[in-house]
Amino acid sequence: MSLTLKPQLPVRAKISSLGVYVPPKLLTNHDLELMVATNDQWIQERTGIRERHIVEKGVATSDLATEAAKICLDKRGISADEVEVIIVATVTPDMFFPATACLVQEKLGAKGAWGFDLLAACSGFIYALQVGTKLVESGAHKKVMVIGADVMSSIIDYTDRATCVIFGDGAGAVLLEPCEPGEVGMIDYWHEIDGSGAPMLNMPGGGSLNPATAETVAAKMHYVHQDGGAVYKFAVRKMAEAAETVLSRNGVTGADLACFIPHQANKRIIESTAERLGMNKEAVIINIDRYGNTTAGTIPLAMQTATDEGRLKKGDLVLLASFGAGFTVGSTLLQWES
Ligand code: UT7
Repeated sequence: MSLTLKPQLPVRAKISSLGVYVPPKLLTNHDLELMVATNDQWIQERTGIRERHIVEKGVATSDLATEAAKICLDKRGISADEVEVIIVATVTPDMFFPATACLVQEKLGAKGAWGFDLLAACSGFIYALQVGTKLVESGAHKKVMVIGADVMSSIIDYTDRATCVIFGDGAGAVLLEPCEPGEVGMIDYWHEIDGSGAPMLNMPGGGSLNPATAETVAAKMHYVHQDGGAVYKFAVRKMAEAAETVLSRNGVTGADLACFIPHQANKRIIESTAERLGMNKEAVIINIDRYGNTTAGTIPLAMQTATDEGRLKKGDLVLLASFGAGFTVGSTLLQWES
């Protein structure tokens, strides 16, 4: 490996803390067998999912996001009023407006922070991570909270077996801060959006194109609609391309990675990407069996799994990669510093 860092930035950014939260209630494959024509074997073989967590009625994205953020701050040992910026990546905001970031700021007690929501579906967390990184690297801010959170159960049609078996609810938060001398932190990223993919994965109702009416509700337009096969093909091709691009331009290969933390949408997509990039099996983090696809929550939840299992340690070279509705795709190379 010959990792080549770009010319020294005046300030480098790093992830200094991580917190995650999932609601306690479980929805297992066996529960779903009682709701739609599916079975545990099909779901496990085609997706790798065994169970997912879903909220009780009345619990919203800002609640999961706030819990994750509190854990993140506790681990770092700082109080909420030290947070300068809050970015919430989500496709399931509590409501259209105000931004979920504002609701999290209030629930957290992050007095004086500013922030906003970012919508990039399953790539939301890594896109928000880059925005936060740039805010730290520019010298503008020293403590940026980046949260990926979704309550997918609020937009899933539990009579549609093609989508209801896939998604779950969850949240993860990281704090971005300047590196200490000798630390590397965030290294590089590659992102791309392709709006020709919009018809393949969307929620058509409720926006300015199809405002909510009795007809849009009856037509189930307020649920996730997906062409699973088309999304699968895009994912397999583009997630590997995103990963390869960022690895090669930084002088590393898949085999050099201590940890590959991909978006958890389908175990088969993750395994084919890892194989194509020549990664060691032990480096690949998969927790989709326990959480399903939590959209913007998957990558921080997988970071937590990696640290819990002792597979992600300070100084490790890590690749994040994602794809999602839009289409959106991206990858991030970093050195883990917490
Ligand atoms: O974050 C981005 C989110 N989206 C994705 O990542 C989705 C990517 N796509 C996928 O993960 C896969 O395409 C799915 C898991 C959605 C579907 O798997 P697949 O292997 O592509 O299955 P398929 O859609 O080709 O369906 C195969 C068969 C069909 O039956 P026939 O036509 O062969 O008789 C489906 O009707 O499986 C049937 N099927 C099911 N059977 C049992 C579809 N859903 C189910 C189900 N249980 N839940």
